[in-house]
Amino acid sequence: MLKGWIKSKTTDRYLRPLREQLISMIEPGTSIVEFGCGTGDLLFRASSQIQRGKGFDSSKSLIAFAKEKKRSSSVDNLEFICADIGKHDFLMERFDYGIASLFIHALPKVNRKQVLGKLSNISGKILIADFIPPGSFKERCWLHIDEMTTGHYQHYLTYCREDGMIGLSKQCGLTVMDQMHTFDPVINIFLMQK
Ligand SMILES: C[S@@+](CC[C@H](N)C(=O)[O-])C[C@H]1O[C@@H](n2cnc3c(N)ncnc32)[C@H](O)[C@@H]1O
Repeated sequence: MLKGWIKSKTTDRYLRPLREQLISMIEPGTSIVEFGCGTGDLLFRASSQIQRGKGFDSSKSLIAFAKEKKRSSSVDNLEFICADIGKHDFLMERFDYGIASLFIHALPKVNRKQVLGKLSNISGKILIADFIPPGSFKERCWLHIDEMTTGHYQHYLTYCREDGMIGLSKQCGLTVMDQMHTFDPVINIFLMQK
């Protein structure tokens, strides 16, 4: 729970403009699934305008934080599941939107294609927020330092070597319908469809 509280006061605050941009791209009254939802911040922010939302994360403490927030704020159209996406069976579930924010680059190379494939199988439209190549030396330095502190630096490096989301979308047979800049110059939003 402490991990969730710290994230809610730091990363979630920093990423607020990104969450708002993602939410502005979602049609009201629809359903969302989010892979790697963390504290569930995006889903909580979207909850008043969507029909339902489901978040998956493998971190027990982040999901415990999200569940406690759901209970204390009486939000009843969200569900949070602690699961490893790679091993989870989604059966016949379907959602209007599948979202993954700063999640794909953090996965091991061997799992990335499978996970994006799973998201595309259960979602109508896919919205991915993730890193793009830095435009300057300064941005490159900050991004590498940031990733070195996360514990998944090696995964980030293979993500870059494989041309990031553009390379992965091709591997998965997905069409990138649109690509939008965000408040952070090294993060773009990719709108994809099968
Ligand atoms: C970089 S964080 C991003 C969290 C959130 N989407 C955000 O934008 O703040 C990546 C998240 O993915 C989760 N994660 C990593 N591998 C996972 C897996 N195989 N299955 C489910 N969640 C996973 C981590 O626990 C973490 O919360």
